[in-house]
Amino acid sequence: MCGIVGYVGPREVVPLLLDGLKRLEYRGYDSAGVAVVNGEGLQTARAEGKLEELVRKIAQSPLRGSFGLGHTRWATHGRPIERNAHPIVDAKKRVAVIHNGIIENFNELKQELRAGGWSFATDTDTEVIANLVSLELERQPDLLAAVRAAVSRLEGHYAFAIVRGDADEACREIVAARQGPPLVLGLGDGEQFLASDPTALVNYTRQVVYLENGDIARLDRDGLEVVDREGNPLKRAVRQLSWDPGQAEKGGYKHFMIKEIHEQPRVVQETFSGRVDFERGRIELEELGIAPERLAGIERLHVLACGTSWHAALVGKFLIEELARLPVEVDYGSEYRYRDPIVDDKVLAVGVSQSGETADTLSAMEAAKERGSLLACICNVPGSQATRISEGTLITHAGPEIGVASTKAFTTQLVAFYLLALYLRQCRGEAIDGALLKTLSHVPQAIQDALDQERAIEEMARRWFRAGDFLYLGRGINYPIALEGALKLKEISYIHAEGYPAGEMKHGPIALIDEDLPVVAVATGHRVFDKMLSNLQEVKARDGKTLVVTDRPRADLGDVADEVMTVPSVGELLQPIVNVIPLQLLAYHVGVRRGADVDQPRNLAKSVTVE
Ligand code: M6R
Repeated sequence: MCGIVGYVGPREVVPLLLDGLKRLEYRGYDSAGVAVVNGEGLQTARAEGKLEELVRKIAQSPLRGSFGLGHTRWATHGRPIERNAHPIVDAKKRVAVIHNGIIENFNELKQELRAGGWSFATDTDTEVIANLVSLELERQPDLLAAVRAAVSRLEGHYAFAIVRGDADEACREIVAARQGPPLVLGLGDGEQFLASDPTALVNYTRQVVYLENGDIARLDRDGLEVVDREGNPLKRAVRQLSWDPGQAEKGGYKHFMIKEIHEQPRVVQETFSGRVDFERGRIELEELGIAPERLAGIERLHVLACGTSWHAALVGKFLIEELARLPVEVDYGSEYRYRDPIVDDKVLAVGVSQSGETADTLSAMEAAKERGSLLACICNVPGSQATRISEGTLITHAGPEIGVASTKAFTTQLVAFYLLALYLRQCRGEAIDGALLKTLSHVPQAIQDALDQERAIEEMARRWFRAGDFLYLGRGINYPIALEGALKLKEISYIHAEGYPAGEMKHGPIALIDEDLPVVAVATGHRVFDKMLSNLQEVKARDGKTLVVTDRPRADLGDVADEVMTVPSVGELLQPIVNVIPLQLLAYHVGVRRGADVDQPRNLAKSVTVE
């Protein structure tokens, strides 16, 4: 939530900040702003709404400078209006701050500062940071020292960066602090960068440093200094980014979401490539970083996630229970952290997160670790917080996912779970049936075949996009796919949609069914196929309309399907990866038909770094 970007160096800063913000806009798009420092002191431009509003404003009144900050906001404190847009300038107009997170004691600090004569012009919690640092600068001239003093007063979660307006050529610097939300620094030649995530940096540098909680950093043209809150110098590893800048572009597609849907054959392949020895029938996951002997001693798993990643975790439960014969509990990060789960050193806790920065998932992972579990994660962003707090990491190779609605991250998470389940089986001394590996090698082509039905699904979207509600049904390992299909539709089309286990329908939701309710059903495989048909009969008997995903010939469905989305068969355990494809396409085309902003749906943010 909230994208932040900063630059200090010889280049003209405004185009660079706007380019960074464009790549971070998926983190929030309630308002945007920049602050630059030049010979005339601090200058800001801020605009309500999307980044394009800010770009328009700057085109009318250009800003120049060679260091500065940019911000794209997902509102927490204060309405999404220009007055509350960042950068926030303090009452004495000395400093400008950009911030991602929540200052929990802001009310208390605000009262204290007000009593000392400091005024407030916004409704944000961020303004207390600006005023606190400005107050400290009255006591000491050094910005880093002032930030250290201010940080000692803050409670909550934050990643913020600050510049001062009176900086002359000799002290062009940005000071940044992190406690919670991510902050990555990019190192260049005579120039330095800062951002919420590496997507904003890949065009400029591949050398990055991830700040840890409690770190405070100073960036200037000559380099980088990191200290702890007491001012002790810290050494932070410089990492090499492997992402290709082109991956964060639309590449000729109309939206990131559809581009990312079409990337799935390749990224799914990349997620299992090099990790499966097809000849010897073995999974090679030493990169996980946890010794096989330790995994062999695991007795239970707790899988922790939010949103789409939680749906992947539900599929993962099926896979691990079936293939490794270990019991699995799946929990929402936001629920797990506030209960008292039964955890010991025989539990492997697995956090699942595309971004690796979701606050609820991270807190749940920490809670499991504190109670003695072994901690691993399935994550798409190397170097993210989830990977740093985990003992073992299984990276999904989806590449940067920019569309706010998760697609390729989900299917690669399913592949990661399949590998993990087989690996746990292997660690427990059980052989792996070669057919299970062979089928995996067919999945990329099966996804491609499913994608090739796009025209038919686009037509289907044209017939159904006016519906006010949808019901999604699935059973067994495809119940989470019904949940995911419904989530995709609500996120990007704003149509109410509910996912339900098909067998549960008769216990309540059946009351909703009438001729106006489209029911999307996942009816593949053998174990519950006949049961799904019976559930669809129940829908048809009440005049419901059915849109069915199936790997069977149409004739096998009898008269229960009004519309059919055909997918190839890849075996029951891998089938969810293929079944979700038509549901992603359906959601996308319904969203586009309804004129929704599918890449940046209202009220959402890509990385939810607040509780
Ligand atoms: O980065 P994460 O996987 O931890 O994110 C979890 C959810 O916020 C995310 O999946 C969200 O539900 C997406 N908007 C789904 O499309």
